[in-house]
Amino acid sequence: MSNRKPGSIEQPSSTKKRIAVIPGDGIGREVIDQAVKAIHATGAAIRLTEFDWGADRYLKDGTTVPPDGFSLLARDFDAILLGAFGDPRVPSNLHAKEILLGMRIKMDLYANVRPVKLLDASLCPLKNVQPEDVDFTVIRENTEGVYLDMGGVFKPGTPDEVALQEDINTRKGVERIIRYAFHHARQHSKSQPPPQGGSGKSSQAGSTHTSPRKPRVLMTDKSNVMTHGHGLWQRVFKEVAKEFSDIEAQHMYVDALCMQMVRDPRQFDVIVTNNLFGDIITDLAAGLQGGLGMAASGNIHPGCTSMFEPVHGSAPTIAGKNIANPIGAILTAAMMLAHLGLKTESDQIEAAVLESVRQKKTTEDIGGSLGTKEAGDWISERISRRSAKA
Ligand code: NAD
Ligand code: IPM
Ligand code: MN
Repeated sequence: MSNRKPGSIEQPSSTKKRIAVIPGDGIGREVIDQAVKAIHATGAAIRLTEFDWGADRYLKDGTTVPPDGFSLLARDFDAILLGAFGDPRVPSNLHAKEILLGMRIKMDLYANVRPVKLLDASLCPLKNVQPEDVDFTVIRENTEGVYLDMGGVFKPGTPDEVALQEDINTRKGVERIIRYAFHHARQHSKSQPPPQGGSGKSSQAGSTHTSPRKPRVLMTDKSNVMTHGHGLWQRVFKEVAKEFSDIEAQHMYVDALCMQMVRDPRQFDVIVTNNLFGDIITDLAAGLQGGLGMAASGNIHPGCTSMFEPVHGSAPTIAGKNIANPIGAILTAAMMLAHLGLKTESDQIEAAVLESVRQKKTTEDIGGSLGTKEAGDWISERISRRSAKA
């Protein structure tokens, strides 16, 4: 991909899914190269268009998002594949804010879907944990909370300085993300609701038997302190839960949840929460999966052009060294293809990634000895073999 000019169009055809690729900064560029290679290896009917939004462009001509940039993405593309934003040369982080948060908020991509899946026991820092024990999804509200940059500083630089940062929680925003989480639990549950029973995960830590149980949605907040904003979450969660009698609704304060995620990650199916808590707990969750290099995500508005990105950032300290783990980005590509209805291709990518992890054909952060590009090549080669057989 690095040989293509920004804006160039490949394989034009009206039947192909149109994907905007925005690699961004730092390791974003390196890992997105590998994700694009993996997509091509599937032979999926796609047309990629690369955009140069990021720190280099901002430092060159002051552009963060070009005029009508988001309208163009929404109108002309089926999905967006994003790398990461953040560069030490832009200490204000202005371009990252305008591109990344701008896209999430202005394109109203309200559901940040972050799957937490352990691929191999060796990657988890917890003792006696198997892949099936870490398999849940965080649904993070993506357009409100403290991310709207509302507030201000009064009497700056004086001993009387006051800094305000508003936490925005709207009825509409809270209700739609909670409803999204319940639908997600219904559609993606592996455990079957009673009375038919099924192979649900055990709710008891360390227990080996499986018992039929309903899929769960757990809402996490800090309503014992943030009584107004998170009081709204409490009320809406209880109301919406009544519409889903096939789903078990649970609540946990976010501090207790952090402890439980480490003590017993088996108990979770879907966790729904606000923007800030969702950000924080998904880095913790990435730790359960083997680190930030393993975590994928989607920023979704059902029926609209949605955006997919690895959970990690631009990691400036490891950028340009060919050591970043490309798996988070490659699994993100798989998530995007599944979202676009290309399930076979998505499955091929996931299977090849699993093989690479099991055979330790990976970067060093997860126990292998390959570089970013070489790990990406290995995975792509396995995908090509699978797609040739299919
Ligand atoms: P980061 O995710 O970039 O890195 C945190 C740690 O994880 C670092 O030690 C890094 O080396 C490691 N890491 C991350 N991705 C990895 C990978 N693929 N393989 C191996 N190791 C990996 O977070 P940070 O250091 O807090 O932030 C760096 C910059 O990225 C900041 O400017 C931040 O604002 C930005 N950021 C952007 C996004 C995004 O664009 N979506 C997300 C998070 C952070
Ligand atoms: C993430 C990142 C972003 C966030 C930053 C870079 C603004 O940490 O995508 O998880 O806080 O949402
Ligand atoms: Mn984050």
